[in-house]
Amino acid sequence: MNHPRPRWAPDFVDIERPSAARMYDYYLGGSHHFTADRRLAEEYMRVVPDMPVIARAQRGVLNRAVRFMVDEGIDQFLDLGSGMPTTGNVHEIAQALNPAVRTVYVDVDPVAVAHGRALLRDEAGNTGVVHADLRDPDYVLAQPEVGELLDLSRPVGVLMIAVLHFVGDADQPKGVVGAYRDVVAPGSFLAITHATSDYRPAMAKDAEEVYLRASHQIHYRSRREIAELLDGYELVQPGVVDMIHWRPDPDADPDPLDGDVRRYSGYAAVGRIR
Ligand SMILES: C[S@@+](CC[C@H](N)C(=O)[O-])C[C@H]1O[C@@H](n2cnc3c(N)ncnc32)[C@H](O)[C@@H]1O
Repeated sequence: MNHPRPRWAPDFVDIERPSAARMYDYYLGGSHHFTADRRLAEEYMRVVPDMPVIARAQRGVLNRAVRFMVDEGIDQFLDLGSGMPTTGNVHEIAQALNPAVRTVYVDVDPVAVAHGRALLRDEAGNTGVVHADLRDPDYVLAQPEVGELLDLSRPVGVLMIAVLHFVGDADQPKGVVGAYRDVVAPGSFLAITHATSDYRPAMAKDAEEVYLRASHQIHYRSRREIAELLDGYELVQPGVVDMIHWRPDPDADPDPLDGDVRRYSGYAAVGRIR
């Protein structure tokens, strides 16, 4: 079915194909999505009704991990699979603590990149947005914004929040993560969140089915598989844990899902290169 084309939709975008980036924007309550995105997102939420809360929990991990890394002296970030601009983008979180922080955002979704280029600039020119597929690390790392903004001879904070579950086994996620690990300097960090099939395998299967019709398919993994993605990194305490247990803010509001980790079905971890 063809849906009316919103005036803001760039001509080169296929608005009929649900996009993982725009569906995520819908879960987060954003406004950059088309009818086909909303339809499939609604279908997903019939399988995973808690998805809006889960998405916010993932953004919560992003926020805490960025603050942790800035506290550890990180002043440059590579945000892979950065998504649609939203409240609390990486450079905003980091620059609140250190205004000199530099950030490169990378996403494969053309709408996320177009909006990122419009909204993620900072006055000092310390942010850049790259349109690239993170599964091609050589291409990503060769982009001018990466060379101009990041000094890879110094520690960098690499973020892969809610994106590795869009890298299927055929694309060798361990190899992809390892390629970034191998080019960053000692003292660098990697933060991830990842959907897991550990708690509700039947739901995970149904959820994967829905995303067969999206731009990127989703792959729920076990805790062991997710931990293996961080091979070569020393895990920062508390290790690979349920997202809400990764260094929670002591003054956070009560958990909207009563701390039920099964309903979150997602792990978080931060690793450090020694
Ligand atoms: C669930 S969203 C997460 C966005 C953001 N990291 C966050 O936590 O809010 C996943 C994002 O990863 C992007 N993505 C998926 N596969 C990708 C790939 N191979 N290369 C780059 N971006 C990718 C999607 O376009 C989408 O914007």
